[in-house]
Amino acid sequence: MELFEPCVLGKVQLKNRIIRSATHDGLAEDDGGPSEKLISKYAFMAKNEVGCIIAGYAIVSKEGSSSYPRCLAFYNEEAKEKYLRLTEAVHAYGTPIIAQLAHCGRQTSSKTIGMKKIAPSAKRHLFYPDKAKAMTIEDVLRVEDAFVDAIARAKEYGFDGAQIHLAHGYLLHDFVSPNGNKRKDEYGRDIYGRTRIVKEIIKKARAKVGDFPIWVKLSATDKRKKGMRIPYSVEVCKLLKEYGIDAIEVSCGSVQDGMNTMRSKRMPMDAVFEYKEPVASMPKWLNKFCLACAKAVNPLIPQPKPLTMFNLPAAMAIKENVDIDLILVGGVAKREDMQKAIDIGVGAVSMCRPFICEPNFAKKLKEGQADQSQCVMCNYCGLVIEKGETKCLLGKIKKKVK
Ligand SMILES: Cc1cc2nc3c(=O)[nH]c(=O)nc-3n(C[C@H](O)[C@H](O)[C@H](O)COP(=O)(O)O)c2cc1C
Ligand code: SF4
Repeated sequence: MELFEPCVLGKVQLKNRIIRSATHDGLAEDDGGPSEKLISKYAFMAKNEVGCIIAGYAIVSKEGSSSYPRCLAFYNEEAKEKYLRLTEAVHAYGTPIIAQLAHCGRQTSSKTIGMKKIAPSAKRHLFYPDKAKAMTIEDVLRVEDAFVDAIARAKEYGFDGAQIHLAHGYLLHDFVSPNGNKRKDEYGRDIYGRTRIVKEIIKKARAKVGDFPIWVKLSATDKRKKGMRIPYSVEVCKLLKEYGIDAIEVSCGSVQDGMNTMRSKRMPMDAVFEYKEPVASMPKWLNKFCLACAKAVNPLIPQPKPLTMFNLPAAMAIKENVDIDLILVGGVAKREDMQKAIDIGVGAVSMCRPFICEPNFAKKLKEGQADQSQCVMCNYCGLVIEKGETKCLLGKIKKKVK
């Protein structure tokens, strides 16, 4: 199989096997719809040969809102025209676009969402320490319906499929993981109970949208105690296939893991102290002092390894045991690595930071102008999103190094 051959994956016709993985762009309007800037950004990637775009995560209901500013949302009918413009702009280049749907669960703060945040079990979050309320059955059913409505909207808005966010510590990751889900009722207890919310969402969604493609992004591993591990994730994937999921994007980590989902040699301390609260708002002298201390200890802080192709072992284990289309994300940045993944039977590779760095990366690969991304995986972009629009700060970093 070739990287640039058209193919069908998860019931979607892709232009080639290179996907832009969901990336929060910080460019939504007040109603949660895409701004003109976001539409142009996606159209540019489509024009420049990306095989498929997974839009940045869109929130399915207000109570699931993100703490990142200007996040897409799918619960306002007023945003419909903007979404229709977005899908049309991307389709103009023959490129499919998938809506990623999420509920932040306890990975947000009650203050941000203006109500008590919810989770499968009453737990705190390292970075959003107010305790979440354990969901009642009523809460669970309401969240299921919100996902179902959002999937139906994805179809109505012209998307080619929906991807349910079951990764990175968000609500559905918490449900599926034995770390986040300590429930003793039918939505917990064992793997069947923990995945039941997904089963119900798919069952109800199928009644509304028929065979509209529904994908999942799964954290197949994380660093949580009794959390996601490969053998358990393989069993989860068997169930996801049984429930009617069409493709699985294999990712890893939870926001609580630090830089695990998007790996980097070092924690980007300059960016942490510039963008992350509460340290960003410290008095200037204190911020400077703490930054100097943090920089001194930074080389001693262990970071997850390896830095490239880090979800390949999980993808291979799933491939060996489950007959379902797979997408590999995480530290994929070189042509030879992409081809290696395709050769072992992964249907497509997806990338986030390489497209933040070079939105025309797919075209450069296709035309032989590049064999690898210029992104240095510094993760500054992962901190910028705390305050506003997602940007590559490579230029700024290079200036600092000079
Ligand atoms: C700025 C930024 C925003 C992200 N937004 C999302 C998102 O909206 N949904 C999602 O599933 N993952 C998101 N991620 C994670 C990426 O999709 C991807 O899984 C991760 O960065 C690893 O891929 P990479 O090595 O190609 O960057 C984001 C990552 C970054 C750096
Ligand atoms: S800031 Fe730029 S170079 Fe650094 S990780 Fe993000 S995209 Fe890559």
